[in-house]
Order: sequence, then structure tokens, then C-alpha cells
Amino acid sequence: MKLFIAGHKGMVGSALVRRFRAEKGVELLLRDRNQLDLANQKQVFDFYEKEKPDTAIIAAAKVGGILANNTYPAEFLLQNLAIATHCIEGAHRACVKRLLFLGSSCIYPKLAPQPMPEDSLLTGPLEPTNEAYAIAKIAGLKMCEYYRKQYGVLFHSAMPTNLYGPGDNYHLQNSHVLPALIRKFHEAKASGNSKVVLWGTGTPKREFLYVDDLADACAFLLGLDNPPDLVNVGLGEDVSINELALGVAGMVGYPGEVSWDTTKPDGTPRKLMDVSRLTALGWKAKVSLQEGIRLTYQSYLEEMSSGKLRQ
Ligand SMILES: NC(=O)c1ccc[n+]([C@@H]2O[C@H](COP(=O)([O-])OP(=O)(O)OC[C@H]3O[C@@H](n4cnc5c(N)ncnc54)[C@H](OP(=O)(O)O)[C@@H]3O)[C@@H](O)[C@H]2O)c1
Repeated sequence: MKLFIAGHKGMVGSALVRRFRAEKGVELLLRDRNQLDLANQKQVFDFYEKEKPDTAIIAAAKVGGILANNTYPAEFLLQNLAIATHCIEGAHRACVKRLLFLGSSCIYPKLAPQPMPEDSLLTGPLEPTNEAYAIAKIAGLKMCEYYRKQYGVLFHSAMPTNLYGPGDNYHLQNSHVLPALIRKFHEAKASGNSKVVLWGTGTPKREFLYVDDLADACAFLLGLDNPPDLVNVGLGEDVSINELALGVAGMVGYPGEVSWDTTKPDGTPRKLMDVSRLTALGWKAKVSLQEGIRLTYQSYLEEMSSGKLRQ
């Protein structure tokens, strides 16, 4: 199998490279942004035509935190639509046999039932702060569905929950909650700070999946003869942000106090994927949250000492 992984230098892409490098008979086709700008239609079409991969996984996207999404919605919509349309149509033109498109849980309505099933898609308004990103991802997954229906190609999508692991982003403003907690507790421990103040009440519940588990789920989905058009990928269980914070503090060895600034907003009370579709197909996550945090903190220390930390 000649496999193109779009976005192979990102957190998800790197996990896919780790997963498929270990697989016999797979030739990886990798291009970084300097070699191939996925937002450039001609470059993408020419690349597919020349290289003729058998399979593609689209793990490239312009991603960012709430602030970036909210401030630059036009860019988030345009870049992500361009990546999706070029990667999917280019694959179709070059007769790529199979394509897996990665979206995100933010495609589901703000008030979707919890846990969120796949069929809650397009049943209500989206979370306004990441609407542009979500619309581009919905367009991408619908393209796969429609191409499969109209052209008979095996293009399908997976929607991962919050991910974490090696190669995560530890930027102070742009990082997700789990890497942000690792950095905060690590720095508090290093500087002897006896108190870490976190935003909100700590009561909202969230789900986290170790990124190598997602890569394994992608390999599983690519092995199915008749995969669903759309499938959620998650751990299937959530934790409160307070429990998460205590877990991270314990793993980092931070001995001080954790307190909550309840004047700051909490966000949605609960966000959990319904993973029954994937479970029924025979896949389950293997890495527990505790083990995943341990592995991620280990990577954080290694990335920091080798100067590769994204911050
Ligand atoms: N992280 C999560 O918690 C999470 C959760 C659910 C779903 N996902 C999905 O997983 C996918 C990957 O996310 P991630 O966390 O791995 O993000 P990431 O670490 O930021 O990786 C994204 C990759 O896409 C590349 N890219 C972006 N625009 C490009 C362009 N125009 N041309 C070429 N390459 C481009 C980036 O290259 P540069 O490094 O050069 O910018 C980067 O390597 C996304 O579709 C995202 O929606 C992620």
C-alpha cells in the first residue's frame, strides 16, 4: 500500500507515521508544507497525479484555540475548505482507492445530546466560536459521503474527540486543556510555586483520547471492507476538569495547591462522544487516561530537552 498522510508533521500525522511505519508492506508518502501546500489546488492535483497513492489519510488542518478561531474565522473556513476539497477531489482524479478524512467533535451541534451520536450531525446550531472550522470539516466529511455515493469510491471519515500525546502544542494561548495543564504544573513545580490557579469551577466534563489510539483506530477503519461514512473515535468515558487537573499534577509531581478562579467561564458542562458505532465494529481504545498522561509528560520532557517543544 502506498499511503499518503497529509499533515504528517502534526500531532495526529506523527502518530499515524509511527503506526504505519510499523506495518509491513506500507510505503509512506510524506510531504511537508514547504514541499506541498495543501491549500494550493494545482500543487495538490499534480502531486496526486505524479505519485498515485493507493490510500490517503487527511490529517492536515489549520487548527487553533478559541481565540484564533474566533478572531480569524474567514481564514479558518477558507484554509480548511481548501485543504479538504483539494485533497479529496485530487484523490478522486488520481484514482486513489481509499481515503480517510479526519474531522473533529466540534462538527456536532452545541446542544447535541450527550454522549453525542453521529446522527446528531446537522440537527442544530454549532458552537459559534468554532463555527467556521466546523463548517469546513462538515463540508469535508460530506464530500467523502457524496463522492462515495456518486462515484463509488471508498472515501469515509472519522471524528476524533479531544486528543493529546507526543507532539502536542504547549503554546500559552493556543494550547488545549491537557497540554496546558502539563505545562502549568511543570513550570509551577520547577519554580517552586505553591499555588496554581485554574479557570472556572473544574466541574465541566471532557473526554480525552491518546493520539496513538486514534492512529490505531484509523488503521482499523482502513481495514474494513465497508466502513461507515462517519464514525466517532473516543475513549468512551469522560472526566471532570478537576479530576484531570489532579491527575496531571500527580503525574508531574507538583506538590502545591490547586485552586479555581470561579469568576472565569466554564464552557459546555459536558462533551462526550458516543462511540457505540465504533465499539460495535470491534475497536476500543487501549491507552487509559492515566497511562496516556504519563506517556505525554515523558514526551513533554524529551521534546523540551531536545528543543522540539511546540510552544
Ligand atoms: N488535536 C486534537 O485534539 C484534535 C481533536 C480532534 C480532531 N483533530 C483533527 O486532527 C487533525 C490534525 O490535528 P493535529 O492536532 O495533528 O494538528 P497539528 O498538530 O496542528 O497538525 C496539523 C498539520 O497540518 C499541516 N498543515 C496545515 N495547513 C497546511 C497546508 N496548507 N499545507 C500543508 N500542510 C498543512 C500543519 O503543517 P505546519 O506544521 O507546517 O503548520 C501540521 O503539520 C485535524 O484535522 C484536526 O481537526 C485534532
